Amino acid sequence: MAWEAVDLADLDRDGRYKLLTGSVIPRPIAWVTTRMPDGRTNLAPYSQFIIISANPGLLGFSIGSRSAGDKDTLTHLKREGEMVINTTPESCAELIQETSREFGSDVSEIDKFGLETVASIKVRPPRLARSAIQFECRVDQLIQLGGSTLVVGHVLLMHIADGLRNKSNHIDHKLYRPLGRIGGRRYTRLSEIIDV
Ligand SMILES: Cc1cc2nc3c(=O)[nH]c(=O)nc-3n(C[C@H](O)[C@H](O)[C@H](O)COP(=O)(O)O)c2cc1C
Repeated sequence: MAWEAVDLADLDRDGRYKLLTGSVIPRPIAWVTTRMPDGRTNLAPYSQFIIISANPGLLGFSIGSRSAGDKDTLTHLKREGEMVINTTPESCAELIQETSREFGSDVSEIDKFGLETVASIKVRPPRLARSAIQFECRVDQLIQLGGSTLVVGHVLLMHIADGLRNKSNHIDHKLYRPLGRIGGRRYTRLSEIIDV
């Protein structure tokens, strides 16, 4: 194999973004619900999403900057300190894409798309009814890194759809059917699972 050496410093921001997000694939997607100041619910997808720790359960995702200021999710997290990270079913690709559009800060994607929610137990933002696994989280840290903010969420409660978890805490991936992101408007499903 031969490789082309690329110094990211030689690229513009868009080029760096494309190379990084096109290479670190497939990415799971955090579909994040946060509480708006008037009590309605904001929803947006974030695929720069990782497990930070299992003890305690910490999940993280990174929010990039916007020229006009913070993205709405970050604004709400700074004020409320709570969110639900909803996992993304493969049947929702178009909806996930649509909920990433820059609507005004006063627009609730939940209301705009008529999405059904379920009340959370430990946090105020509700969960997405279409999501098979949801994590109620309290913000543990907001860490400014480069031009982005890493949101670290402490998982207070997990909700797992009936039938997905067995007695030894394995998730049935075939039933779960999560959607992953490749980049741009391209997504992937778990088409083949390989056991080694
Ligand atoms: C599948 C998907 C994943 C995304 N992942 C990220 C991400 O990890 N970080 C980010 O800053 N923006 C990401 N975006 C863009 C945000 O969803 C978009 O900026 C959105 O308008 C933010 O909404 P908000 O202002 O309500 O938080 C992603 C978009 C899509 C479609």
